[in-house]
Amino acid sequence: MSSFDPVAIRREFPTLDQQVNGKPLVYLDNAATSQKPRSVLDALNGYYLHDNANVHRGIHELSRRATEAYEEARAKVARWINAADPHELVWTRGTTDAINLVAGSWGMDNIKAGDEILLTVLEHHSNLVPWQLLARRVGAKLRYVEIDDQGRLELGDLPSLLTERTKLVAFNHVSNALGTINPVKDIVAAAKKVGAVVLVDGAQGAVHMPVDVQDLGADFYAFSGHKMCGPTGIGALWGRRELLESMEPYQGGGEMIEFVERDMSTWAEVPHKFEAGTPNIAGAIGFGAAVDFLATLPAEEVAAHERALMSYAMERLAEVPGMRIYGPESVEDRSAVVSFTMGDAHPHDISTILDSEGIAVRAGHHCAQLVMKRFGVSATARASFYIYNTRDEIDRLADALEVVRGIFG
Ligand code: ALA
Repeated sequence: MSSFDPVAIRREFPTLDQQVNGKPLVYLDNAATSQKPRSVLDALNGYYLHDNANVHRGIHELSRRATEAYEEARAKVARWINAADPHELVWTRGTTDAINLVAGSWGMDNIKAGDEILLTVLEHHSNLVPWQLLARRVGAKLRYVEIDDQGRLELGDLPSLLTERTKLVAFNHVSNALGTINPVKDIVAAAKKVGAVVLVDGAQGAVHMPVDVQDLGADFYAFSGHKMCGPTGIGALWGRRELLESMEPYQGGGEMIEFVERDMSTWAEVPHKFEAGTPNIAGAIGFGAAVDFLATLPAEEVAAHERALMSYAMERLAEVPGMRIYGPESVEDRSAVVSFTMGDAHPHDISTILDSEGIAVRAGHHCAQLVMKRFGVSATARASFYIYNTRDEIDRLADALEVVRGIFG
């Protein structure tokens, strides 16, 4: 008997309880951002109502409370990914900021002219553009793992792509555009054979269930709070302690120093040396509350629920004439994301018609233009599911797609 009930879970999410264009909202844009449970909203409000003060600065009660909550949140989020030590978790603005931190600090000091950075065609722009900027500055070369017709990485090419020149391998845990789940451990093992450092973009990976960074074996794991019930503007970079310790700060400012002299400064311990300026204190506390919320859910049942939603969505969508679904055919190989096009209907028009039916999906290139090019399209429509979605909502989506078909023929 399952203890996981998505209908009960929905009641924790006030945003879901509303009408859009006269219809009950069906929110299927979770890969862009998830909705927030009451406990996260209460944590944000509670900080501002009772404890608002700067962290690590004041010797007064409010500052003590704020600092404690902020560092407790770090420990909670570190536990969510099974980091060996909360000091390995640097607060960032999100995944993009975390990747830019690695490129701007570790990358600038360790990647030289002629070195290679191995990326994949499946990446979000946030795991492409920082490396392009770095490669241009230092004269490094970018190489790519291609994807097959189901949007799965062509891992058979890894032995020829990985050489002693490969200094970094960066790829996503889960594709935001297609939902492909990548075999992180296999890629890490191959990268380690040539001594490359590995960064995993976990923006869509740490979202549905806890991950174990120690088991995955990568060197950096970047993720965001807002896709997993937390607030926007907060995310984290997990890095191996010895790597973080070897890195120069990414930004300079208050609180990241030990001593400041006229011509030089020394740095605070990790993670603080990467957290210049007043941080997003409320955001971090809210992220901690999000992880608390997710940790109350039975992980295996959540995974089974989302797999069942995916199977049902694939089945219902496949019934719609003119439908083309992108990404892996097997639900075992994909996360709760389904990208599709319908005949000549532009994905923006699909999304507009769905919106008129109260259904929110994303349409566009999903910040993954290399994926779009691979499939010869400029955009897709994308429905993405989360813990609170139901089969009834997929029926609403399928019915609304019939409306699209009615209009476009
Ligand atoms: N990266 C987010 C998405 O896939 C914004 O929609």
